[in-house]
Amino acid sequence: MAILDKHKILETNATLLLIFSFLVVTIGGIVQIAPLFYLENTIEKVEGMRPYTPLEMAGREIYIREGCYVCHSQMIRPMRDEVERYGHYSLAAESMYDHPFQWGSKRTGPDLARVGGRYSDDWHVDHMRDPQSVVPESVMPKYGFLEKKRIDGKYIGDIMATNAIVGVPYTEDMIANAQADFAAQADPDSDYDGLLERYGDKVNVRNFDGQPAITEADALIAYLQMLGTLVDFSTFTPDASR
Ligand code: HEC
Repeated sequence: MAILDKHKILETNATLLLIFSFLVVTIGGIVQIAPLFYLENTIEKVEGMRPYTPLEMAGREIYIREGCYVCHSQMIRPMRDEVERYGHYSLAAESMYDHPFQWGSKRTGPDLARVGGRYSDDWHVDHMRDPQSVVPESVMPKYGFLEKKRIDGKYIGDIMATNAIVGVPYTEDMIANAQADFAAQADPDSDYDGLLERYGDKVNVRNFDGQPAITEADALIAYLQMLGTLVDFSTFTPDASR
């Protein structure tokens, strides 16, 4: 009981209690906050990460506009059941160019962090048009209108410039060529050398929705097919020094 009796001194003296509370909070604060000043960056740099191409960026905008994040998360947690179902757990670096991030908070549908390459473009076209045609029990709404909405990517350079302000490493060259790169990625017959030079030769260049016109479906499928494919996990090793 001795220790409780000593504590009574504190509890019955408002000034003392205040002083000691302040001390405790200060120590706790220092322990939590001080190390952050010595960490250069809390996000480990990972090979393969690059800013989104203009077409992928447009797809991401559509993903946000349509509220796909309401039913889909983009964050694989490091638990065994998740890793076995979806693949390698998500790295902080994989969403470092996302403003805002798309981790989501609810999974009515599956996590999409590594959906890239899991299905063919045709599958996505069918699934967007009528999810129940490929997954009969699906409760996902139909998004067939996306393949009827043409887009020209005129605005995409502005979105990239805005992202550059908050730290996404878009160069002036990338921003100046945004609209050309946007169109080139959806047309395998175009001259897309500049696109690959700027974003790397792993960029998917295809007619994603199978129609001649560039539509919102092209952009959205380009985005989905890239998700989770930028980091090569056959060679990735976590940085143990952190
Ligand atoms: C009302 C909730 C809901 C919304 C909104 C929604 N989805 Fe889905 N989604 C689902 C469900 C449920 C499934 C699982 C069944 C299926 O494949 O259709 C699914 C499956 C998927 C899959 C297949 C994933 C896999 O690994 O099998 C993709 C890709 C997908 N959705 C993309 C999207 C995109 C893109 C949007 C926004 C345009 C969207 N979803 C909006 C509920 C939703």
